[in-house]
Order: sequence, then structure tokens, then C-alpha cells
Amino acid sequence: MTAETKKGILHVFALAYASYSTIDSAELDLEGLARHAASKNAALEITGYLCYDHGVFFQYLEGERQIVLDLMEVIEKDSRHDVVNTVELGEYDERIFPDWNMRYLNRSDLRRVDLENVLEHSLFHMDPKLYGQENIVALIKALVANISARQNHLKAV
Ligand SMILES: Cc1cc2nc3c(=O)[nH]c(=O)nc-3n(C[C@H](O)[C@H](O)[C@H](O)COP(=O)(O)O)c2cc1C
Repeated sequence: MTAETKKGILHVFALAYASYSTIDSAELDLEGLARHAASKNAALEITGYLCYDHGVFFQYLEGERQIVLDLMEVIEKDSRHDVVNTVELGEYDERIFPDWNMRYLNRSDLRRVDLENVLEHSLFHMDPKLYGQENIVALIKALVANISARQNHLKAV
């Protein structure tokens, strides 16, 4: 039984991060990475998506708070990338991506949802002192909502 159903209320914690790949893109098995992540996340009841573009990863994770934070610690130690910035997005009443244990979104997926020009990694170079942490969180939430609104267009792999 999940923390959500046990309590009868939904309490989903979300975070996002950006990282630089340390491996040449030709050697990165992104689909394999996402498949392995998805099967592990299913057991942890974690959902979200993973993007990769020009050496930069962007991942959105949601689930029970401590489980997400513990997983993030594991992910952070992965030598295939260097995490640049992690942003906690707080709690939601329900999951935004209930059907995606870890959906890999490639360039053409992003093009289909018209996000090709959204440079997610640029968000992570924004200095909270200059832009305000709240504005950065709001931007990431808008981005996640944009992907979420188009989930149906992305279902077929
Ligand atoms: C960009 C990136 C994203 C990842 N996302 C996840 C994830 O969502 N879930 C997960 O279990 N592992 C994820 N991993 C892999 C973990 O860092 C770690 O290698 C894996 O959990 C270890 O699995 P194992 O214990 O089966 O060897 C990710 C790795 C990278 C480089």
C-alpha cells in the first residue's frame, strides 16, 4: 500500500535537476538507462521524465518525499553525469505523471510538444540571487505543466 492510499490523501513531493553528461552521447544508452530507471522507479512508486539534449540532462521526479530524496542521492553519485543544480518543487496533491515511471523524452518528443526552444538547462544557470528562487521554481513548474498537458501526444513511443 502506498503512502498516498494509506493516508487517503495524496502527498507527492517533486524535484527537478539538470546535469552535464560525462559520457559521449554516442556511448550513452539513453533508452536503456531510462528503461532500467523506470523498472526501479516502479518499485519505489516514483514517476517522472528524463530529457537529454546536447550533453545536458533534465529530470523531473515525483513520489514520496524521502524516497525521492534518497533516489536523488543515488542518482547524484552516478559517474555518467555531474549534477549542476537540484530544485525542490515542493508538494503536490497528486502526481503529474502517474503513468510514467521514467519516460525518456528525446528531441523529437520535445519538438512534438513544441518545447524544442525551451532551454531547460538555462534555467539551472539562473542564479537564485539574481532571478529569485520563486521565479525559477515557477518557470520549472510551467515547463512541467506544459509536458503534462501533452502527455497523450507522447504516449506512443
Ligand atoms: C541522468 C540519469 C538519470 C537517472 N535516473 C534514475 C531514476 O530515475 N531511477 C533510478 O533508479 N536510477 C536512475 N539513474 C541510475 C542511477 O544513478 C543508478 O545507476 C541506478 O539506480 C543503479 O541501479 P542498480 O542498483 O540496479 O545498479 C539515473 C542515472 C542517470 C545518469
